[in-house]
Amino acid sequence: MKFFLDTANLREINEAKSMGFLDGITTNPTLISKENLFHKEEIENHYISICKIIGNNKSVSAEVISTKYEDILKEGMKLSSLHKNIVVKIPATRDGIKSINFFHERGVSTNCTLVFSIGQSILAAKAGATYISPFLGRLDDISYNGIKLIQEIKYIYDEYNFHTKIIAASIRNSIHILECSKSRIFAITSPINIYYSLLNHPLTNKGLKKFIEDYKKKINLT
Ligand code: E4P
Repeated sequence: MKFFLDTANLREINEAKSMGFLDGITTNPTLISKENLFHKEEIENHYISICKIIGNNKSVSAEVISTKYEDILKEGMKLSSLHKNIVVKIPATRDGIKSINFFHERGVSTNCTLVFSIGQSILAAKAGATYISPFLGRLDDISYNGIKLIQEIKYIYDEYNFHTKIIAASIRNSIHILECSKSRIFAITSPINIYYSLLNHPLTNKGLKKFIEDYKKKINLT
């Protein structure tokens, strides 16, 4: 299972890399807006920096902000030309799906984002999306079952042998990660704090405290 980091923050990216679990990056316009980048050129250079940090053959999803077909093509082409690791992230709209098909025919990798239904996932796969990103947390927020949706998409993709890979997105807690892992989902993309939460266990903290106390009682550390 791949662990992607859902961030545009270089410090977090370096931290995940140093812990050995960084398989890729996803960004979105909201995440980019948090990085104090004020011009298009600065944003493009930022994407290049991310690609250089994560290394070869690891994808970095960079999202278009255009919504019209021709504009998505122009912006997507520019993003894709920045670095070979860039995957063009495109929303699951009518113009978006048409653009995904355009890029598919030219060998450009895409990530179909803002996926909330089986219908969107099927059209994205038929258009040739490299990845789709169903948003689990945002579905849970409105009382729909995000995990159930992703399991249904996986079932349909497997049944029909679609090649599009599923990235579980909008991850809110460690249970999302564990459920996706049990369902053999290709990847999850999550903020770094939720990866950290996988390490939380009261017995680990309690055990560590006791080990150190016992050691210090008998052994002079100076
Ligand atoms: C996916 O690729 C998105 O960047 C992301 O997972 C959205 O998550 P959010 O619902 O926490 O904003």
